[in-house]
Amino acid sequence: MPEPQRPSLADATRGRILFGGDYNPEQWPEETWHEDVRLMKDAGVNSVTLGVFSWAKLEPRPGAREFGWLDRLMDLMHDNGIGVVLATPTSSPPPWMGRLHPETLPRDEDGRTEWWGSRQHFSHSSATYRRYAAAITEDLAARYGSHPALRMWHINNEYCTYDWGDEAEAAFRRWLQEKYGTLDALNEAWGTAFWSQGYGVWNEVLPPRRAHYMKNPGQVLDFKRFTSDALLECYLAERDIVARHTPHIPVTTNFMPFWQGQDAWVWAEREDVVSVDIYPDPRDPFGGQYGALVHDMTRSQACGGPWMVMEQAAGPVNWRGVNHPKPAGLNRLWSLQAVARGADAVCYFQWRQSRQGSEKFHSGMVSHAGEHGRTFQEVKRIGAELALLSEKVADARVEAAEVAVLLDWNAWWASQQDGRLSSEADYPQVVRAWHRALWEAHTVADFAHPEHDLSTYKLVVVPQLYLMTDAAIDNLLAYVEGGGTLVAGFQTGVADEDDRVRAGGMDARLRDLFGIRVLHEWWPLDAGEKAEVEGFHGTLWSEEIEAADDVDAVMPYKGGELDGLPAVLRRGRAWYVSTLPEPHTLRTLLADIAADAGVRPTLTGLPAGVEAVRRGGLLFLLNHGRDGVTVPVPGRHRSLLTGADVTDAVELGRYGVAVLEAAS
Ligand code: GLA
Repeated sequence: MPEPQRPSLADATRGRILFGGDYNPEQWPEETWHEDVRLMKDAGVNSVTLGVFSWAKLEPRPGAREFGWLDRLMDLMHDNGIGVVLATPTSSPPPWMGRLHPETLPRDEDGRTEWWGSRQHFSHSSATYRRYAAAITEDLAARYGSHPALRMWHINNEYCTYDWGDEAEAAFRRWLQEKYGTLDALNEAWGTAFWSQGYGVWNEVLPPRRAHYMKNPGQVLDFKRFTSDALLECYLAERDIVARHTPHIPVTTNFMPFWQGQDAWVWAEREDVVSVDIYPDPRDPFGGQYGALVHDMTRSQACGGPWMVMEQAAGPVNWRGVNHPKPAGLNRLWSLQAVARGADAVCYFQWRQSRQGSEKFHSGMVSHAGEHGRTFQEVKRIGAELALLSEKVADARVEAAEVAVLLDWNAWWASQQDGRLSSEADYPQVVRAWHRALWEAHTVADFAHPEHDLSTYKLVVVPQLYLMTDAAIDNLLAYVEGGGTLVAGFQTGVADEDDRVRAGGMDARLRDLFGIRVLHEWWPLDAGEKAEVEGFHGTLWSEEIEAADDVDAVMPYKGGELDGLPAVLRRGRAWYVSTLPEPHTLRTLLADIAADAGVRPTLTGLPAGVEAVRRGGLLFLLNHGRDGVTVPVPGRHRSLLTGADVTDAVELGRYGVAVLEAAS
């Protein structure tokens, strides 16, 4: 049976960019709620997320229900024109659950219990936890399903718990039985002939608990796959309940970007709205690029359609070693950047900064300084500007990207195993380096799964795909065969889907594609070490490669053991880069290859640090620098934020933003 048509973010936004955040009124006396509403209206807040951590308040004793306070809040929001994203509170069970049902608590790889007193202390595989979670979800959906304030369901929060406990053990085994059918197949896939690990009966198969030395990589890889699937089951169980009550209300759960615990490609397919929490470090000089990467990733998971910033910080977070506030203008810049790159919702953790609890030093839209504080004043400005943009932007698509960056959780999981050659080559960092090169070249990219249809892209970039399925390899070969240009970074195509190294150290068809006759050895580099290549330096990694006779071009290593051997090879439209070039070289290399492939930057002549993105016929210009710049923009435009006419150039101050519409 075809899946019934599901609602989308547009059903929640109703033509307005959502603006607001997590609202935790249970931390405040009711008088404050009215003050909150006044300030929300002042700031143009049109959406709040309620109930994320409210389980103990909603169900103070097993089976009890205390909905009165939430009834009052739902009504209060509705009366004031504020929509509600209603969360199921299942990420933080009340203490009574752990006390009465210790099996609901997860255990770490040493078998130690993770107790209540923080959050996310639930075992995804506990039948008791799942029963309680389903019951509270059912009752919330029944009670609020027809409430006029309800706009969206938010299931749980940042699903992330690993569990090595007894029920997880049994569930892992069931998952493996389903995947492999027989123990022989499991033994083969995990390579258990090594170190006498062969399993004779299923009960010997465990989650990868504390062991004397390095664990079996196949077992660890499957445990990560299983964990993502087990958490997904929890999500789907709650999603199915709310969807049954309210088929017209979209459902989401918020991702953490670059979080290992969920294969976001798989999860996103099961969400009506893809939402994400983004916390770039305000001190990171490339925080804007990190944001762009997360935006591109999330938009791609949403198949190019609008997506949601579920959480960001109006000021400092409180979970880094040192937590810096956002300088004036940065919150606005990063909020509008998300909109430029496809967001139809700009929300925060959280509305009002807490005065107690673990996050009392984490910023809120209303900081400890209150309504006169700089943070709230900037929030107000953002709210007003989003309202201005809503009509032209909501539901519009970002201009189709001509470049795709391939990204895969399985490749990430497998590449980070114990026993690898280098712990310096961190997958997210490598992905980020390649994306940064595109960002600095003013080229908007999508992300894609290696098995996705790539035919609409002129250029496909593979920062690294240590593990590749046969289907992914077929896909890349077909892409190049079909006229596409491909650039792959080091350690691509090394292992098959069981993390078995492919004969020759790289799949033979890929070696042929890139013009590699023999891949003799990998030569990882130490932290800070550089490999000299003709014209540039490589970092992190190098490879001893013998090129095939008919390779079209090479850039050779210079000096050292690899002197004269190819660092970069090209055969036809396929490029292989066996090291990570320093940022400026990677940018130039990629920009040249992109230009050759017919890829056009969004705008030419942009000053460094200025980002340009087109969405819905509008041109967003974002200055990530602290100095003012003049940006050449040929033609006549109207600036939507200022109402001014713009001819041939626009001035952007520090962290300045312009949204331009071509003058008719
Ligand atoms: C995550 C959580 C929030 C809050 C923020 C703090 O995104 O979902 O509840 O803890 O982090 O940055």
